[in-house]
Amino acid sequence: MKALILAGGSGTRLRPLTHTASKQLVPIANKPILFYGLEAIAACGITDVGIVVGHTASEVKAAVGDGSAFGLKATYLPQDAPRGLAHAVLIAKDFLGDEDFVMYLGDNFLVGGITDIVHGFTIRDAATAARILLARVPDPRKFGVAEVAKDGSVLRLVEKPDHPPSDLALVGVYLFDARIHEAVAQIAPSARGELEITDAISWLIDHDLGVNSSMVEGYWKDLGDPEALLDGNRIALMAIRPSIAGEVIDSKIEGPVVVEAGAKVVDSIVRGPAIIGRDVVLQSSYVGPFSSIGDRCAILSSEVMNSIILSDSTVDTVGAIEGSVIGKFAKICHRSERPSATKLIVGDHARVELL
Ligand code: G1P
Repeated sequence: MKALILAGGSGTRLRPLTHTASKQLVPIANKPILFYGLEAIAACGITDVGIVVGHTASEVKAAVGDGSAFGLKATYLPQDAPRGLAHAVLIAKDFLGDEDFVMYLGDNFLVGGITDIVHGFTIRDAATAARILLARVPDPRKFGVAEVAKDGSVLRLVEKPDHPPSDLALVGVYLFDARIHEAVAQIAPSARGELEITDAISWLIDHDLGVNSSMVEGYWKDLGDPEALLDGNRIALMAIRPSIAGEVIDSKIEGPVVVEAGAKVVDSIVRGPAIIGRDVVLQSSYVGPFSSIGDRCAILSSEVMNSIILSDSTVDTVGAIEGSVIGKFAKICHRSERPSATKLIVGDHARVELL
């Protein structure tokens, strides 16, 4: 069994963060989303992983390297443009050979791993060519949607339908055998110009090959937009193991908190679950529950709650920040000179909500 993890795409709904960075490398609880997927793959005993990369290939390669840090052997598979999930399978044909594989979308966050699901697929009957994962969602129109029989076999799939046939969304983890290669070669691009994996799976069903499904029992989220990202961050933080490696001076640490090495917490309160990255300076501030503060940030005379701050940013004397996602090398500070007006230099597609 091999794995194919998708780390391309443009991440439009996470702009402006994704103007400069890969969406799969945006961190939750200070760890890139992609790493959770790689860990889940390694935990099932898979070692050979193909990573489909797009225009952010160099950044993904710099973060994952040869995969050995995860116990994996990584092979990079460049995709010239985001041409769809089935296109990713098409370009991975030589890498995958005749083996069964798990395809994992690098922006999906699943708690509880995929080991049981992967093992379930290895003991299938010969007619079964694929297994998909499903989760009930309030608005299925944003996802691939499945219609399933009582025994879990999949009858029909539609991609982002206006009138969903059910509330069962396709989770971004799929299991295939080599028969998917013919399917992805036979289908035509969809109305949005992409080779859809839902069409390839429908092709299997239309050719009397079995596609079965399992429900995701634990937490699952496609971390494609800021609200989803904050939600994933909250869930990831609930699983942190508290540890204090940095310095804590005249401060209060409450609840599960990680303070990484080199960080300095001075005259402050940190209420977990929260993580304070390496070499962070936290001075006369409050960091509240569900906050992830990236490496080398400075939080000075401010309050931060339920937020993600990427590395190397400064928040200085700004009152309280909540429900926020702040990119790298950002500076948010109090303006002391005249005119006493708000001054903003924000990137394209940014969102600012002022009091
Ligand atoms: C993709 C799939 C969709 C699936 C979703 C899960 O959508 O096309 O069927 O439900 O991932 O994350 P995308 O995120 O590319 O819009």
